[in-house]
Amino acid sequence: MTTKERIDWLRAELHRHNYNYYVLSAPEISDKEFDDLMRELQDLEKEHPEYYDENSPTMRVGSDISKDFTQVAHKYPMLSLGNTYSESEVTDFYERVKKSLNEDFEICCELKYDGTSISLTYENGKLVRAVTRGDGEKGDDVTDNVKTIRTIPLVLHGDYPRVFEIRGEILMPWESFEALNREREAREEPLFANPRNAASGTLKSQSSSVVAARKLDAYLYYLLGEELPCDGHYENLQKAASWGFKISEHMRKVHTLQEVFDYINYWDTERKNLPVATDGIVLKVNSQRQQRNLGYTAKSPRWAIAYKFQAERALTRLNKVTYQVGRTGAITPVANLEPVQLSGTIVKRASLHNADIIEGLDLHIGDMVYVEKGGEIIPKITGVDTDARGMLLGEKVKFITRCPECGTPLVRFEGEAAHYCPNESTCPPQIKGRIEHFISRRAMNIDSLGPETVDTLYRLDLIKDVADLYQLQEKDIISVDRFGKKSAENIIKGIKSSLTVPYERVLFALGIRFVGETVAKKLAKAFDSIDKLQHASLEDLMEVDEIGEKIAQSVIRYFANPSNVELVERLKQVGLQFSRSEEEQSGYTDKLAGQTIVISGVFAHHSRDEYKEMIEKNGGKNSGSISAKTSFILAGENMGPAKLEKARKLGIQILTENEFLELLS
Ligand code: IVH
Repeated sequence: MTTKERIDWLRAELHRHNYNYYVLSAPEISDKEFDDLMRELQDLEKEHPEYYDENSPTMRVGSDISKDFTQVAHKYPMLSLGNTYSESEVTDFYERVKKSLNEDFEICCELKYDGTSISLTYENGKLVRAVTRGDGEKGDDVTDNVKTIRTIPLVLHGDYPRVFEIRGEILMPWESFEALNREREAREEPLFANPRNAASGTLKSQSSSVVAARKLDAYLYYLLGEELPCDGHYENLQKAASWGFKISEHMRKVHTLQEVFDYINYWDTERKNLPVATDGIVLKVNSQRQQRNLGYTAKSPRWAIAYKFQAERALTRLNKVTYQVGRTGAITPVANLEPVQLSGTIVKRASLHNADIIEGLDLHIGDMVYVEKGGEIIPKITGVDTDARGMLLGEKVKFITRCPECGTPLVRFEGEAAHYCPNESTCPPQIKGRIEHFISRRAMNIDSLGPETVDTLYRLDLIKDVADLYQLQEKDIISVDRFGKKSAENIIKGIKSSLTVPYERVLFALGIRFVGETVAKKLAKAFDSIDKLQHASLEDLMEVDEIGEKIAQSVIRYFANPSNVELVERLKQVGLQFSRSEEEQSGYTDKLAGQTIVISGVFAHHSRDEYKEMIEKNGGKNSGSISAKTSFILAGENMGPAKLEKARKLGIQILTENEFLELLS
C-alpha cells in the first residue's frame, strides 16, 4: 500500500467509525483504537502536506448543531484537548512545559468528566446564556433547558466579575441514567447507549420539562473573561465555587511529575466509586500568565493535556456464539459468556459484529476472552488470551451458513461485512422487524403499538404484514387476554390516524433497503407517486441527486418482488398516502436549479437546516466545501476567515442572508 492509499483508507475508516459512533451510537471499535487510527492519520498528514484534504476526519472538531435551537457564536472558541493513553506522553508534556517556561510552575490535576460540554455566560450575576459546544466556533442556545439543571446557579452571590463565561460538563449521573433506561425499556423505547449520549440527547430536547425530569448534573472547570479575580486557574475556580458553582472537589494542585502520576493512579481505580462517568484526567498549567506564554496549536492549548484511562476490561470464558436476525435480515453474532463482573454490572453477552471480526479474533469455543465496556451498554470482545488455551483448543467459531430462525442459506453482498437471510417473506424476525419499523415514530408513528404487542398479534396470526394492521378490529384485539376495551380502542385509533401520514414517510415506512428518511424524501420529490417510482428505470432513479447505484438497485429489487407490489396495492386500498399532496408539491421551485451553494456563518432569520431545506426545495444543491464548482456562498455573521479567503481567491459571489431571501421571494 502506498502512503496515499493508506491515507485514503484511514480517512474512509475514520469517517465510517465517526458515523457509527455519533450518528448510530453503535461503535465497532474501542475509543482507543479510534484514537490510534486518528493519530496515525494526523501523523501522515503532517508528513505529507501534499495530500491535504479539507474534509479529512482530522479537520472535524465534531458538531452537535441541531435545527431547532438558535445558533450563537462563541466569544472564545471552544477548543478540545490533546489526548493520550500513554504515560510517556504525559511525561513528554510535563517536560515540554518545563522547558518552555523555564521557571517554577504548578499543574492542576482534574478529572475528565464524560458528558457534554457547555458554556455559560453570566452578566451582573445572572445566567444570560447557555450554549453547547457545536462546532467549536458556534453552538446551540440551550439556555431554557440548562436552567432546569439544579446545580447550575441562575443568580450568583459574592464578589463575581460583571461579565464572564464559565465552561463545564453536563452529566447524567449513573443512577439517573440507569433509572431512565429502565423506564424506557418498560415503554419499549430505544435505550441510551451511555450517560454521555443520554445527557447530550436530553440537553437537545425540545421540551425543557423533559430536561427537568431527567436529573442532569454539571461540573464547571474553566473560567474565562477579561476581569477574573486571580492568575491561578485553581484559585479562580475556588472563587467560582464561592459564587455558587459546583466545582469538582477532586481538583489538586501539584508541583512534580511524580504527584501527577500519583493522581492518575489513584483515580484510575477510585473513579468507579464516583456518581458520574469519567474517562480520564486533565492536566492544566495553573497560572494563566504561563498559559498565555505556552499558547495554542490550531486545535488545542499547549498548556493542557488529557490522559485517558484504558477502558475497563475483564477476562472470561466464551461458552457459545448465537445469532440474531434483524429487520433487514442482517445477522448479528452474539458471544454468550461465563458471567463476569465488569464496571459494576454482570456481563453475560457481548456483540461480535460480523464474520470478519470473529475471523480476526480467531475465536474458539472455550477461549478466555477480554470483554470491554468503554462506557457503552453493550460490551464487546476485544481480544483472546491465547496463552490460556493450553492443549485443549475448543472448536473454531465458524459463522453460520443458514438462518437460525428459518433455515434459509445466508448470503453476503459484495463490499458488505454483514451476512443476510434473504427470506424476506416468511422469516419471522424479519416480518416482525418490518412491522416495528413501519409503526415507529419517524415512520407511521403508530404509538399505540409497541414491539411486544406486535409480537403478540403476530403469534396469534392476527397480523402477518403491515397491511394486516389496517384490517384489525377492536374485537380481535379484545380477544387477546391482556387487552381491555380501552387499549383496543386506542390501538385502532392510532392505526386509523396513520392514514394521514404523508407520502414521503410512508415510503420510508415500507422499509426498502437503503431507503432511509432522507432518501425517501428525495425519491418522493422526484417521483410524486408510488406508481411513478415503481415504474422508474435504474437510470431514472440514478438521475436523482445523491441516489447512487446501490440505492437504485435496491428500489428496483423491491418492486421486482410481486409480494411487495401486492402489499403496496393492499395499502393503497386501505387509503395510505401514496402520492404527494398539493401542499407538499407547492413550495418547490427550480429557481436554484443547477446551482451548488455553500452555507457558512450564523444566521438571524432561519436556522442553517432551514436554509439547507430552502435550497433543496428550490432545486439547488448544498455543499460543505468551497470549490471552483460553488455557484455562491450564503454567508451569515462570522463566516470563517479561511473560507472567506478561499471564496475571494476563486472569485465566488457571497450573498447575505437578506439577499438570498430576496432572490427566492
Ligand atoms: S478543559 C481548552 N477540563 O473534555 C480546555 N475539559 O477535549 C478546555 N472535559 O470538550 C477544556 N472534563 O468537554 C476541561 N476537567 C476538564 C474536563 C474537560 C471533561 C471535556 C470537555 C472538552 C473535552 C476536551
